[in-house]
Amino acid sequence: MTTRRKVLQTIGLSALALQATPVLAATTEAPALPLPADPEYWKKIRSQFMLADDEVFFNPGTVGAMPRVVVEKMTAHLNHLAVHPAQWAYKDDNKDEYIAGYNNLQSIRGKVAALINATPGEIAMTDNVTHGMSYVAHGLTLNAGDEVLTSDQEHPGGRGGWLVREKRDGVVFKTVAIPKPAHSPAEVLDLIVKAFTPRTKVLMISHMITGSGAILPVRQICEEASKRGIFTVLDGAQTIGQIKLDVRDIGCDVYLGCFHKWIGAPCGTGFMYVRKERWNDIWTTVASAQWNNHDDDGFRFINRGTGSFSILKGLDAALDLHNEIGPDRVYSRIKFLGQRLRDGLRSMKNSKIFSPTDESMCAGITVYNLEGWTGTRLQDAYWERAKMRPRAQGDVFGVRHCTHIFNSEAEIDQALAILRSL
Ligand SMILES: Cc1ncc(COP(=O)(O)O)c(C=O)c1O
Repeated sequence: MTTRRKVLQTIGLSALALQATPVLAATTEAPALPLPADPEYWKKIRSQFMLADDEVFFNPGTVGAMPRVVVEKMTAHLNHLAVHPAQWAYKDDNKDEYIAGYNNLQSIRGKVAALINATPGEIAMTDNVTHGMSYVAHGLTLNAGDEVLTSDQEHPGGRGGWLVREKRDGVVFKTVAIPKPAHSPAEVLDLIVKAFTPRTKVLMISHMITGSGAILPVRQICEEASKRGIFTVLDGAQTIGQIKLDVRDIGCDVYLGCFHKWIGAPCGTGFMYVRKERWNDIWTTVASAQWNNHDDDGFRFINRGTGSFSILKGLDAALDLHNEIGPDRVYSRIKFLGQRLRDGLRSMKNSKIFSPTDESMCAGITVYNLEGWTGTRLQDAYWERAKMRPRAQGDVFGVRHCTHIFNSEAEIDQALAILRSL
C-alpha cells in the first residue's frame, strides 16, 4: 500500500472521496460527542484524537495533538487547492478561501473573540505568539531610556522583539526575578509592582509561565500597571485551550496566544488581541494593502501576504470541538489530571517540584525533577519504560509534564509508578 493511501485510510477518507470534494465544503463532520454523564466520557473523547495507542503524549505545552476532525478538514482543503486551483475566480478576497493573508477572516475572528470575551475587530489572526509579540514590540513608539519590564522566565519568542528594540533604539529591557516555585499570587504581584519605575512604559509578562506552569495574577498586575499609565502586553501562549480567558476582566492592552498547543489546531495558528482603544498605538510591521486600515485594525495585521488557508480550516474545526466539549469541562479535566500528578509527586521524598506551591496558580503544566537526575535522563527513562513523552527542561528543572483531555488517570498513575521505581 502506498504511504499516501495509508495516510488517507488512517484519517478515514479514500482518495476518491477527496477528489469528489465539492468546492471547499466540509467533507467530514465530527462524530457525535459522548454525553457528559457517560462514565466512558473521557475515553470516548480520547478516541477523537489520532494518537497512537501505545504512546503517551505529555507535551502539548510545545505542540498539541490534533484531533482527527482537524486533520480531515485541513487535508480536505489542501487537497482541493491542489486539484482545483482553477476554480478560484478571484472575485472577493473576503469570501475567497483559497489563501490566507488577503481575507479579513471575519468568521474565525468572531469565534476567537467569543472565546476570550473580545470583539472580532479587536482580533488579528497571526501565525504564532512570536509574530504577535514582534508586531507589538516593533509597532509601539518607544524612545531611548523607556523601560519595558518583564520577568526572568519569559520564552525567547516573548523577549526577542524587545531585545531588538533595546539594541536598535536604546529601550531598556528590565527583568524582575520571580521565585520558582512561586508561592502565592500576592508574592508575584508585590515583586512586579516594586519593579515599576516612572520610566516603565510597557509591562510584558506571561499569563502562564512556560517553564513552571505558574498562572500569574494578571488582573491585579494589569490594574496596577494601568494606574501608572503602563501599556500591558500578556503572553498567553500556554493558556488558550487550557484555562478560561476573559481579556476584558483581565484588563490588559494586548493579549497574544496560539492555537497549536492547547487547542489542538495545526501549527502556525495564533491570535493577537488589542483593546479597541489601543490599536492606534501600534504601527503595522508586515505591511500590504490594508496597512493603514484603521476601520478594521485587526485586518491591518492579517493582510500580510500569502499564507495557508488550510490550517485555518483546521483551526476552525479545533475551535468548534473545543467549544462543543466546553472550555469549563476542558479546564476541569486538565486541572484534575495535573493535580493528580502533583499530589503524587508531593508524596515522594526525592521529588522537587518547580510549579507553584499554591494550587490556585496551577493547571495542566507541572515541572519537576528527582534528586540526582537531569531532565534528559528523566525524559529518556519515561520513553524507554513506557513510551511516555514529557519534555526535558534542563539539568536542574527536570521535565515539564503536561496533562490534557486525551490523557487518563491510568497514564498519570503509571507515570508516578515509573518515578517511584527510579
Ligand atoms: C510562554 C511562551 N511564549 C511564547 C512561546 C512561543 O510560541 P510560538 O511558537 O507560538 O511563537 C512559547 C512556546 O512554547 C511559550 O511557551
